[in-house]
Amino acid sequence: MYKKELSPEDLLKIIFDYTAKIASERKLNGVLVHMADMGREMILSDRCTVWLIDEVNKQQYTTVAHGIDEIRIPYGTGLVGSAIVSGEPIIVKDAYNDPRHNAENDRKTGYLTKSIISVPFRNNNGEIIGAFQAINKLTEVGYFTSRDLELLSLAASYAGKSLESVMLTQEIVDTQREIIFAMGEIGEVRSKETGNHVKRVAEYSYVLALGLGLSMDQAELLRTVSPMHDIGKVAISDAILNKPGKLTAEEFNIIKSHAKIGHQLLRGSKRELLRAASIVAEQHHEKWDGTGYPLGRKGEEIHIYGRITAVADVFDALSAERVYKAAWTLEEIEKLFHAERGRHFDPELVDVFFAQLPKLLEIRQRFMDTENKQDQA
Ligand code: C2E
Ligand code: SIN
Ligand code: SIN
Ligand code: FE
Ligand code: FE
Repeated sequence: MYKKELSPEDLLKIIFDYTAKIASERKLNGVLVHMADMGREMILSDRCTVWLIDEVNKQQYTTVAHGIDEIRIPYGTGLVGSAIVSGEPIIVKDAYNDPRHNAENDRKTGYLTKSIISVPFRNNNGEIIGAFQAINKLTEVGYFTSRDLELLSLAASYAGKSLESVMLTQEIVDTQREIIFAMGEIGEVRSKETGNHVKRVAEYSYVLALGLGLSMDQAELLRTVSPMHDIGKVAISDAILNKPGKLTAEEFNIIKSHAKIGHQLLRGSKRELLRAASIVAEQHHEKWDGTGYPLGRKGEEIHIYGRITAVADVFDALSAERVYKAAWTLEEIEKLFHAERGRHFDPELVDVFFAQLPKLLEIRQRFMDTENKQDQA
């Protein structure tokens, strides 16, 4: 029932496995989970958590704890807080004999903390940004030793560097996300499509992407960028965009330019997010049979993000009232998707559309356009 200390070979394997996993992980939460797992396995503790500092709220928090949810405590409290504030690691054989221990979590969870080790880590500027904390040694001696301290310090020196770069990336991605959403809304307001169009298209695209078997990462990326599909409409005049009736051929040609314009606005960035947004802006009016615009791409020449957004966009356009058309009934919409299977739309995606229809309708209901119709006109 007690565990035996690991051999150097075992340790190397753990370190190599986890550093590879961490290096390929882009999400902060994913990195934290891998780090906590690595720490726990390296030093044979029952639990291990990675704590970060929330400077704004003067707290320290952990999003992943083995068997527990996010915990937030005031900055500097508990043993882990003492390690963070002092910059020095702490080893304690029995937490209940140490006044720095914060027993509140034990009281809440019914878990019994005995031995603890806490090791702070620093970013590339040498500033402390968090700490590892492992609880309850699983070997017969039952407490952490200087060997554990060396091992966890090794993990901590690696953690500080990786975490900083992931957090910076995360911040850039968050910023891009906000910009994209704001731009999508600009396009939307201009064409008098009320409040929730971009949100619905985002959620529909996400559900369709997952239904088609794309990865969670890709589905989330598409959810972020699909609201941008009509950003090129910023360049189209109000008179045409909001014309109550049918468009002349010439007017429709002008509107069609929104796909190319959107593509031009967004292309040229190396950022994955903006590149994906550019694809969606360009290709959301292409049709599977090659009769769409701007380029008349056919079948799988159309990027999967474009094919998915096309389904989401048309489903939403038909469901809603536009200045130029009334909302369609569900029956009429279903008929169109059957008829356009393999014509306008990727046939496989139409199958996914019908399979996911209950979820799509639930989203449509959840983000329904209510009141403020008048405000728009
Ligand atoms: P939108 O209103 O967002 O519509 C997106 C797409 O949904 C349309 O792309 C079309 O594929 C589909 N769709 C929307 N309404 C209908 C419909 O009543 N019947 C059918 N079969 N499909 C429909 P499309 O046709 O390339 O149009 C692109 C954009 O051009 C539209 O975006 C809208 O802003 C504008 N537009 C198209 N037709 C008219 C029109 O008759 N009057 C006005 N004012 N604008 C139009
Ligand atoms: C402490 O570090 O003493 C409290 C935090 C915890 O037990 O997880
Ligand atoms: C929408 O697509 O958000 C609604 C369109 C409209 O209200 O005309
Ligand atoms: Fe469009
Ligand atoms: Fe649209």
